[in-house]
Amino acid sequence: HPPLRVAVLGCGVVGTEVVRRLVTEGDELAARAGARLELVGVAVRSLDAERDPVVDRSLLTTDAESLVEKADVVVELMGGIEPARTLVLRAVEHGASVVTANKALLAQDGPALYDAADAAGVDLYFEAAVAGAIPIVRPVRESLAGDTVLRVVGIVNGTTNYVLDSMSTAGLGLEQAVKEAQALGYAEADPTADVEGYDAAAKAAILASLAFHTRVALGDVDRVGITALTADDVTWAERTGHVLKLLAVAERARTAEGRDGVLVRVQPTLVPSDHPLAGVRQAFNAVFVEAEAAGELMFYGRGAGGAPTASAVLGDLVSVVRHRVLGGKGPVESSHADLPVLDGGEARSRY
Ligand code: HSE
Repeated sequence: HPPLRVAVLGCGVVGTEVVRRLVTEGDELAARAGARLELVGVAVRSLDAERDPVVDRSLLTTDAESLVEKADVVVELMGGIEPARTLVLRAVEHGASVVTANKALLAQDGPALYDAADAAGVDLYFEAAVAGAIPIVRPVRESLAGDTVLRVVGIVNGTTNYVLDSMSTAGLGLEQAVKEAQALGYAEADPTADVEGYDAAAKAAILASLAFHTRVALGDVDRVGITALTADDVTWAERTGHVLKLLAVAERARTAEGRDGVLVRVQPTLVPSDHPLAGVRQAFNAVFVEAEAAGELMFYGRGAGGAPTASAVLGDLVSVVRHRVLGGKGPVESSHADLPVLDGGEARSRY
């Protein structure tokens, strides 16, 4: 199979790690994917920023739009809504498969993007958008597609889990615990998205949409963060045989009008100490799924970080490339742009 051209959009922690693996493990990845992966460019905001030397400077470009047009597979790791949304749509319309880790974009516009990918007959994969390295998107989207999911309960934000865990083990107050998490790189300088539950709510919206075959957007998620919690709440939870966790819960429910619906919420919750989610410590994530036929399933692992997140991105990349190779979908048309075109006059004289 001819090599497939891969464009990476965004070169932060995860983007750099993805580029490193493409460069250093190209042969293994090609063997698994069934075609060589040719990195044709890395779109960045600034050409001058300091970067890991593994990212060849000649691959850098600030013109993401042109880069997308040259690619068979686009790996979107910029985050945020725009320009990521426009670029993903352009890629799909152009016939490229897309791998993205962008939970904000999928929580806002997922259904429109899935439809666009379906219409174009290309893959849109996003395992890394929910709980980093943990395979949870594919199990819910594909493996459980023949079952009926009843409830999804997850610890899908590592920052807040770390903070709550250190409040419990070190007896810290919330503010101190957040500062410690920042010093260790578990929390951002501006921790709002994590501590207010927005990050978990985006992931909950994505999981709920997949699990219940419906459209749940970020705005449909009831959300309470951890900012009102005190050291007292944490110790009181423990005294009563619980662990305090920021949970994302999606479940089937009857609406006020008596229709079947889905309820999705993120809120600090008392988890009984003997529940499998109670043992999820530090910055780890876990998702507990209850399905009619499968029963209880638990997915556990690292929800953030360059290497774990890149693991999920590269798994998606291998999958979408295999689909293109096996499905016979060759490189997108622009790869033939160098072929000579028979002009009209010649055609008439010949036929
Ligand atoms: N801030 C997020 C977390 C990163 O703590 O889980 C991964 O989305």
